[in-house]
Amino acid sequence: ADSGKGGYPHYMLKEIHEQPDVIARTAFDRIDLGAGDVRFEGGGFDDAFCRSVERIQILGCGTALHAGQIAKYLIEGLAHIPVDVDFASEFRYRDPRIVPGTLALAITQSGETADTLAATRLARELGARVASICNVAGSSQVRESDATILTYAGPEIGVASTKAFTAQVAAATLLAIRLARGRGVMHEHKARQLLEEFRMIRPKIESLLTDEAIARTREIARKHAGARGFLFLGRGVNYPVALEGALKLKEIAYVHAEGYAAGEMKHGPIALIDPGMTILAINSVGHVAEKTRANIEQVKARGGVTVSVGSDDLSHSIADSAVPVPATDEWLSPILNSIPLQLIAYHIAEIHGCDIDKPRNLAKSVTVE
Ligand code: G6P
Repeated sequence: ADSGKGGYPHYMLKEIHEQPDVIARTAFDRIDLGAGDVRFEGGGFDDAFCRSVERIQILGCGTALHAGQIAKYLIEGLAHIPVDVDFASEFRYRDPRIVPGTLALAITQSGETADTLAATRLARELGARVASICNVAGSSQVRESDATILTYAGPEIGVASTKAFTAQVAAATLLAIRLARGRGVMHEHKARQLLEEFRMIRPKIESLLTDEAIARTREIARKHAGARGFLFLGRGVNYPVALEGALKLKEIAYVHAEGYAAGEMKHGPIALIDPGMTILAINSVGHVAEKTRANIEQVKARGGVTVSVGSDDLSHSIADSAVPVPATDEWLSPILNSIPLQLIAYHIAEIHGCDIDKPRNLAKSVTVE
């Protein structure tokens, strides 16, 4: 029964290890370093299309929505297009307003999630064009989209999404750069720099998957498996990474975990902090690193146990434990920072003896409401 696991004890661990290939497959052939641009198959998302987009409404569920939240930071930050993100299940049952020039962007691994399909159909009825980021070429979502960026994650068996998520983030990064270039708001040099950095990500992902790197996440898991609860903190493009880190832990280890914008901590979650709570701060070098570092200090001052994940070495020197992640451009840091969080959730689930590939009550794809 484990013939498809390639020697790994679980599909999830196998799929975590596939990420260097998955990111390379999804991104690298689409990067045109000479032009400092991104090319999608069939000339999709050409300049005229990019210029015609006035607003983007991202729709999705679960992990895919977290990729969508990262996409919002990327698209607003790089392409200067206003972006809204909503749970498909909320969008479809409220009275959403779609302005002319809206592109609805569905993000979905399976392309068959009922709420996401219904929400994008509604957006179309209201006048939006529809694009999707999807992992299944022949899926309903792809058939119903005007344009699609396929992720090349391959089949994902583990119910808790790992490689499909980082592939969605990679695809969203490419889309943001294409939109920025197509609209003429990003200089060729800047795009080339970012894309060169992207091309260098593979060995960095691999370095997070060595025996030594994995042992480090197992050690963190051992130390913290007994915590009463977990708070994941992040800012900017790493805020949704915190949400996703917490979701993984809930899904497979059945541990209560919450993801929070680091700057919001003082407006509530700070009251939860005591030595029984583990606070994971995701912090990479970038324009908000100092702010998140201050949050780590605040947690420590209140007796909380802290783990820092990311490329910000100063955070590591403050936190009780550290998971160093290679440095990259801030815009690319979510792909790297997500990986140790997947592994920490995996090892905590292992310690608790959970059914990692088939967590209770969850379905791989929610095709009925
Ligand atoms: C289910 C899965 C999640 C997934 C979500 C959306 O809840 O358990 O892992 O993120 O559906 O699925 P989709 O196929 O639309 O990405």
